[in-house]
Amino acid sequence: MPEVRSLGYVVISAGDLDAWETFATELVGLQVAERTEDRLRLRNDQAWYRLDVQRGDAEGVTTLGWEVSGPAELVEFAKILESAGYDVTEESADVARDRGAMGVISFTDPDGLRVELFYGQKVDKRKFVSPTGADFVTGEGGLGHVFQLVNDEERFRQLYLELLGFKLSDYIEFGPIFGTFTHCNPRHHSFAFAAVPNAPKGIGHIMFEVEDIDTVGRAYDKVVKEGIAPLAISFGRHSNDQMMSFYVNSPSGFQIEYGTGGLLIDDSTWRPSRFDVPNFWGHEHQKRA
Ligand SMILES: [Fe+2]
Repeated sequence: MPEVRSLGYVVISAGDLDAWETFATELVGLQVAERTEDRLRLRNDQAWYRLDVQRGDAEGVTTLGWEVSGPAELVEFAKILESAGYDVTEESADVARDRGAMGVISFTDPDGLRVELFYGQKVDKRKFVSPTGADFVTGEGGLGHVFQLVNDEERFRQLYLELLGFKLSDYIEFGPIFGTFTHCNPRHHSFAFAAVPNAPKGIGHIMFEVEDIDTVGRAYDKVVKEGIAPLAISFGRHSNDQMMSFYVNSPSGFQIEYGTGGLLIDDSTWRPSRFDVPNFWGHEHQKRA
């Protein structure tokens, strides 16, 4: 069975790239890799870019880029996905170059979000320098994690756990429904999903993890004392991955989780749990203004 290695990149459609640049650099501490009239690429490590913000009418995440080990894995995944009824496209060399990869295949998930599998991520020789001095936890854990609000939980369970080979991390009870957390490397989860009724579907948040609590605290001050971005969920500690984090609304509406101290999973000893609450303390959802 081929394996997904990490979350490599995320593509976002947004109307206000200037707002994104300010938000990403001054609050999150991402570095601008490329800026044109219609495009803003951002990095949080030595990869050429991790977020690709493209000017568009829609607001939100349009594409998830999952890294695999090589061309053989792309062929194997294409077969597995096609036999399960997914329409898989082998992308051209031009698309791969634009993505900063050697090879890319694409398909759409059950809710219509574009998913890409790629290998050979482009590394930038320029040293990553965060404008806020943030050191991001990346490496084999990829850029961070994403949480997706979905329509049909069972179809996403099949896609990520059975077809893409993610492993179960645990579950959190959100009222009558459960969030499912999955991993593809030691990061506690790279992909989580929940079928929350009446919630807008798609990527609800992207998480960036930094090395130290002071970087999180300084960013938190910029939100609560300076109002650089609207606070969505206050500082707190998650029950399952033990991440100490807060959430802000990005310029495109979905949230960015910013935290430190996330749990790492050792598959030889890991057993999935169920949690009845998402946090040990804090994490108060803010009322929308
Ligand atoms: Fe999260």
